[in-house]
Amino acid sequence: MAGSSHVYQAPRGTRDFLPDDMAVRLHIERAWRDAAVNHGFDEIEGPTFEHLELYTSKSGPGIVSELFSFQRSGGETDFALRPEFTPTLARMAAAQGRGLAVPTRWFSMPWHYRAERPQRGRLREFRQFNVDVIGDPSPAADADTIAVAVAALRSLGLTHDDVQVRISHRAVVNRILADLGVADDRITDAQDLLDKRDRIDPDAFAAKAAELGLTDDAVARLGALGGDSVPASTDPATLAEAWSVPADALTELVALRRELEARGLLDACRWDISIVRGLAYYTGAVWEIHETSGNERAIAGGGRYDQLVESFGGPSLPACGFGMGDVVLELVLRDRDLITDGAELLPRPDAFLVSMGDDTDDAVVPLLTRLRAAGLHARATDKTTRNLGKLIKDANRARARYAVIIGEEFADGRVVVKDLDSGDQTEVELDQLESRLGTG
Ligand code: HAM
Repeated sequence: MAGSSHVYQAPRGTRDFLPDDMAVRLHIERAWRDAAVNHGFDEIEGPTFEHLELYTSKSGPGIVSELFSFQRSGGETDFALRPEFTPTLARMAAAQGRGLAVPTRWFSMPWHYRAERPQRGRLREFRQFNVDVIGDPSPAADADTIAVAVAALRSLGLTHDDVQVRISHRAVVNRILADLGVADDRITDAQDLLDKRDRIDPDAFAAKAAELGLTDDAVARLGALGGDSVPASTDPATLAEAWSVPADALTELVALRRELEARGLLDACRWDISIVRGLAYYTGAVWEIHETSGNERAIAGGGRYDQLVESFGGPSLPACGFGMGDVVLELVLRDRDLITDGAELLPRPDAFLVSMGDDTDDAVVPLLTRLRAAGLHARATDKTTRNLGKLIKDANRARARYAVIIGEEFADGRVVVKDLDSGDQTEVELDQLESRLGTG
């Protein structure tokens, strides 16, 4: 039927994962999971869709245009595919009520859906690593979540020359905005504007700033703020001066700095008051992880949200955490040649079986079955050739560790095992095969 061929293409902003792509995804997810588990976080999951109101109640009806929302046919309830995990997590924590052990450390790596205009680093369907601490108001909790993010990136090969954590604080930003003349009830709008400033043109920025009650001078000061981030080791007096705020506004950041130092994270972090974060629920320290060249959008973003759980009907539970998307992270890893070929990341077979004669073909399936039952990753060639050179090539293409050659020795209870990395070749008794392949 004319005009319907597009249904055979994946929807815009989504991805198909062929085996090599899947290997890359699993490589990233393994780094995420290992870092979170090593830091004492437990894995959770939630539903892919929620009541639409879970999002509109906090962000207003404007958020609907950024969501995939729907009703079931004949139904009246509005749902939305989750655009982020934090509302789900806060809902889950609120539902546990006073039964929730505090602090609770949770992580997840779910799918998210946002009705964005697809572009580099921005898709409509993506995965996001979420790491959150619930019920701990101390900066140690913020630092613990930052430590997980940095550990995951380090294990993927990114150093502090490649990526930086840029930390700011909502209260400090709000103080600066108030000093610049933004009225209390326009502070959220002003934060929103600051968050968008790299994405909108300077005239639109100035027009919106004027509408918020800012003078030209204030707009210039705002534009200049935080243009250069400063090392996390910068002393508080210098910071207070750079940001024109009283030192007492920096108490929490100073405490956070101590916690970062204790975790060896000062070199990974910088203070950057231009980090505002687009989400309304943040109440304290906020941070993003950026590639140092500044070519990509943020790899991760997070912060403290002390009122969200309570606002979902739960007890008063301060919380903090972050989300790290897979799309930008993969771009950064490819930029730095830390992932070149997904095939390199596919699991290597321990054994690759080839039969050299018609009389040994029937031995292949039982031997494969035996090796697999022993927990080995075993494959066999699909080729019908008896040319050993071609069969070994096939084994190498599968990136097997050993080729198991079933030839004339089989009649005497032996096979030839060829180590494909070293090229060494030995005859092995069949009853020794598992231990030979397993221990290498
Ligand atoms: P967010 O800044 O909206 O924060 O997203 C965090 C990260 O998810 C971004 O830095 C980016 O890497 C990735 N991301 C966001 N949108 C897209 C997209 N359309 N395509 C690809 N990647 C994307 C949050 O979502 C907060 N809920 C994070 C959080 C958790 N805060 C506290 N706990």
